[in-house]
Amino acid sequence: MTHQIFCLGIESSCDESSVAILDNDYRIHHLLTESHLKCLEPYKGVMPEVVSREHVKHLPLIIDKLNHQFFLSKVSFITYTAGPGLAGSLLVGANMAQSLSIIFNKPIVPIHHIVGHQLAFLLEKADLNFPCLSLVVSGGHTQLLLLTSPLNYKILGQTRDDAAGEAFDKIAKHIGLGYPGGPVLAHKAAQGNPQAHQFSIPMSSSETLDFSFSGLKTQAIRVWEQGILSLEDFCASLEYTIAQTLALKTKHALKQHNGVKSLLLSGGVACNKKIRSIMQKLADEYKIELHIPDPRFCSDNAAMIAAAGMYKWLHASNDACSKQDLIKPNWFIEDCSLF
Ligand code: KG4
Ligand code: ZN
Repeated sequence: MTHQIFCLGIESSCDESSVAILDNDYRIHHLLTESHLKCLEPYKGVMPEVVSREHVKHLPLIIDKLNHQFFLSKVSFITYTAGPGLAGSLLVGANMAQSLSIIFNKPIVPIHHIVGHQLAFLLEKADLNFPCLSLVVSGGHTQLLLLTSPLNYKILGQTRDDAAGEAFDKIAKHIGLGYPGGPVLAHKAAQGNPQAHQFSIPMSSSETLDFSFSGLKTQAIRVWEQGILSLEDFCASLEYTIAQTLALKTKHALKQHNGVKSLLLSGGVACNKKIRSIMQKLADEYKIELHIPDPRFCSDNAAMIAAAGMYKWLHASNDACSKQDLIKPNWFIEDCSLF
C-alpha cells in the first residue's frame, strides 16, 4: 500500500468558512462548513465587511473543532483559496493557513478558487478524459474552458458582465426572494411553466463563446414589472432561459473544438436541476461523458480546495506550488496553468 498523506484545505473566498481533511486517494476524512448566509439576509446580498468579520469569528472555531477530530500536526501540507474572491475574506483564510504552517512547520499550497470548483470531480473518483470542455457557473464566474489536463486551462469564453449566479441573485433580490436567489428561484420554478414567457437568449445569434447576463436581467425585471406572469411561471421561464443560454454556448464550443472527450459542469449554479438535465441532454446528443459533482461539492466547500491542493502537490513541481502571493483577489486562471 502506498504511503498515506493528508492535507488540510481551507476555503474562505466568499460566504462560507470551510475546512477539510483529505488523503492522497482524494478521500474526505472531515469536512466542516459554516455558512454566513444568515448574516447576509438583512442586506439581501454579499457585504464584504460583514462576511470578513464572520470568517474572523468562525474560522478559528471550526479549525479548533477539526483539531479535536484529527490532529492537524499529521497533515503534510496546508492548502487554501488564494483567489479570486473578496480580499478581506481571502485574507482571513490565507492568514489562518500561514499561521498553521508556522505552528506545524508545514508548507502551504495556494489554490485558485475556480480550479477548486473544477477539480471537485476528483472527490468522486470520476475518470475524466481530456481534452475536457469545462463550464464553470458560480456567483462570480461564468467561464467556458478547455482543459488539456487537470491543471492546464485555456479560457474559450466568459461573461462580459454579470455571472449566471449573479443574474439569479440580482433578479431574485428585485422580486423579493432574498439572498442567495438561485436556490429560491429554482424552488419556485419547479411549480411553474418554463414556456410561459419566451425571454430572448443573450448573444444567441453570434458564434462567440462569451456570455452576457446583464441584458437578460434588465429584460426579466421589465417583464416582471408588467405583472403578466405568476411568480412560478416567471421563475420557470427565466431558469429555462438561463439553462438554454449555458447549453447553447456549450454547444457552440463543442462544434468549434472537435476533439473534446468530456464535459464538466461545476460551481454553485451547477446545483440547479434544470441546468443539470439540459446539460445531460446536450452530452447525450454529442455522445460525450458529462460529469457534474454532487451538489454539496458544487457550492463552495473546502474539500474541493483540498482536492485541487492534493492534485497540485502530487503532480506539479514544488516550485509551482510555492511561488504565489499570499492572496490574489483577481487571480487570472490561465496564470495557474502548470504543464
Ligand atoms: O460557487 P458558489 O457557491 O460561490 C461562488 O463561487 O460564487 O456559487 C454561488 C452561486 C449563487 O449565485 C447562488 O445563487 C447559485 O450559486 N446557486 C444556484 C443554485 N444553488 C446555488 N443557482 C441556481 N440554482 C440553484 N439551485
Ligand atoms: Zn465558488
